[in-house]
Amino acid sequence: MYVCLATLPASAWQTPGPAVEEAPAATDLMEEDPFDAADLGEPMDDEGDASGADEPDEGEEQPEGDRAKGRVRRPLSRVRPLPIDMKLNRNLRIPPAPPFHMGREIAQTMHYTGAPWLVRESRQREEDCRMMLEALGVEPGQTVCDMGAGNGFYTLELARMVGPEGLVYAVDIQPEMLRMLSRRAAQEGLENIRLVLGSPIDPRLPVGEIDLVLCVDVYHEFSHPEAMLARIRESLSDDGKLVLVEFRGEDPAVPIKPLHKMTKAQVRSELEPAGFRVASEFDRLPWQHLLFFSAAPE
Ligand SMILES: C[S@@+](CC[C@H](N)C(=O)[O-])C[C@H]1O[C@@H](n2cnc3c(N)ncnc32)[C@H](O)[C@@H]1O
Repeated sequence: MYVCLATLPASAWQTPGPAVEEAPAATDLMEEDPFDAADLGEPMDDEGDASGADEPDEGEEQPEGDRAKGRVRRPLSRVRPLPIDMKLNRNLRIPPAPPFHMGREIAQTMHYTGAPWLVRESRQREEDCRMMLEALGVEPGQTVCDMGAGNGFYTLELARMVGPEGLVYAVDIQPEMLRMLSRRAAQEGLENIRLVLGSPIDPRLPVGEIDLVLCVDVYHEFSHPEAMLARIRESLSDDGKLVLVEFRGEDPAVPIKPLHKMTKAQVRSELEPAGFRVASEFDRLPWQHLLFFSAAPE
């Protein structure tokens, strides 16, 4: 199923290029549909109003797992959604997106109607998300960024990991993703998250402050990778790391479409000229590469 990104509010884009005109829903990323497409959920309104579409009933049961972990999930009608910084610089001209970057075809952005796939029950079993999070080595008090946060599958966990003294910037180019995330964060009582609407060439992060920028299944979707990498590099603190998690392109057993996978060689060949060097690699995830990059000295 292909969904046209023309459904996005025009305000989110200045000059949409080929990479954003048509976008795959999540079911198009996998070789076999992992869930019934009827489960996609309702779209959000365009006004930044975080009440509505997927609001649970007042008396909604809290999942067993959450109760066991001591997490309190509040009914949405009783919480105030976190604010979203939507102040894009409308004067910044976004060049047309090239179809290829360094010989790699750029994948289309996953449309927000595919968001339920990001929080599917099988994700832990398939991707071992817990192991990935542990491998990050995130510490309380840190400032981290979930770049291309989607509906916040990882943002909420990162917010718990950095704790009340830390901060998570959650950046995405689709306001609808951020609205879903805003509601989910508020429902779980997490306040240490700043939601930022980015543009395809600028994630609007503070300079020199981010200890870790995490991109899970995102880098291969950047329509303007060079601009994004330059801004991310500027945002890193002295020991800051950029972490890429990408489905393994070398491994035919990973049931994801080739356009949404990357080989290690591809990742390195694109990141090194952009001023990054590999700091470490973690090779134990079932489907993905986990690569840590530092900013190389100028
Ligand atoms: C496949 S989803 C992954 C979401 C999330 N990282 C996760 O693993 O659950 C990719 C997300 O990246 C976002 N994205 C694509 N290009 C982006 C950019 N230049 N800046 C910020 N977000 C971007 C998309 O809007 C989409 O929400």
